[in-house]
Amino acid sequence: MKLIKPIQAIILGSFGLAVLVLLVLIVVNFAMSLDFNLLVYILIPLLTGVVSFAIFAAIFQIFLNERIKMIYRVIAKKKFKDEEFEMSISDDVFSKLEEDTTKWAKVHSDQIEKLEEQAAFRREFLGNLAHELKTPVFSIQGYILTLLEGGLEDENVNREFLERALNGVDRISAILEDLDKISMYEFDRYSLKITDFNIVGLTKKIFGELEGKAGDKNISFEFSKSYEPIKVKADEGKIAQVLTNLISNSISYGSQDGTTTVRFHDLDQKKLLVEVADNGLGIAESHLPRLFERFYRVDKSRARNIGGSGLGLAIVKHIIEAHGQAINVRSTEGKGSTFSFTLEKA
Ligand SMILES: Nc1ncnc2c1ncn2[C@@H]1O[C@H](COP(=O)(O)OP(=O)(O)OP(=O)(O)O)[C@@H](O)[C@H]1O
Ligand SMILES: [Mg+2]
Repeated sequence: MKLIKPIQAIILGSFGLAVLVLLVLIVVNFAMSLDFNLLVYILIPLLTGVVSFAIFAAIFQIFLNERIKMIYRVIAKKKFKDEEFEMSISDDVFSKLEEDTTKWAKVHSDQIEKLEEQAAFRREFLGNLAHELKTPVFSIQGYILTLLEGGLEDENVNREFLERALNGVDRISAILEDLDKISMYEFDRYSLKITDFNIVGLTKKIFGELEGKAGDKNISFEFSKSYEPIKVKADEGKIAQVLTNLISNSISYGSQDGTTTVRFHDLDQKKLLVEVADNGLGIAESHLPRLFERFYRVDKSRARNIGGSGLGLAIVKHIIEAHGQAINVRSTEGKGSTFSFTLEKA
């Protein structure tokens, strides 16, 4: 018989004790020729069984309440009131305990894994951040030192060095601004201000805002065809940020006299796909999986000249995922890139 509940062990123990007493009685009877009455053979073992059952049961109940309650206190991190903690010796206490402690251990190991992941992420993030800030700080330091060591009096370089130092300051301030945005979005993640708005109109507005930047490279903006207004359900301000970052990248990494094209596709009844395509540098396939990571840049030196800190796409991904939507990229090196994301139709 497999003993599952405490009460089964107690019954077996008391029964064993009763049998033992019975055997002792028989032996004593024969050894001392006492000639016991049959009633003695029945009553004494029976009484032993009942009394020992009562004693074992009481002791075990106390043991359960005291010791196992302690274990539950630890894993549930709270104090039980006596009436809340009612375990009976006729319950399958140990299976329940095993189940509960296993569950507890699993939750804790999941939590530890998550914390370790976050710690690794933070370490990498801080490392990247320090690295990103170091370059402009060193260059500013260099220009200021040169100015102090005589450059200031040299009409040929003083102005230029000051301007270069200012460029470094601008870079730092751009990085800090992006970081600020990212942490704001992270903080704000669940408080999207969802409204219905016209995504075609919003794209036109962003085209207008970025016209100046595009003009420097003679890049033209266009829609793949003429669109009627399309209503979507999203946080307009944040989607404006997404379009700004993607279109701004299509200019930074687009080619001279190139084109940035925006397309809208109906994916199904509920979803709209928005695509921002350029015919610029393109991105090698090996870079695509990491493209949306913070500070990730394909060509560090070139991107640095262009002035990017590698946070634009991380911000974009953040916003799209906060909407419960997806972002994707396809690209051919030398031919161009297409970034696409989905939105809920209104
Ligand atoms: N349209 C594109 N064509 C080619 N490469 C791109 C394009 N968009 C992004 N990339 C590559 O992905 C990298 C990351 O882009 P991201 O926008 O995150 O950063 P960034 O443009 O360098 O800096 P910023 O934070 O100012 O946007 C870029 O450095 C660039 O190498
Ligand atoms: Mg960018």
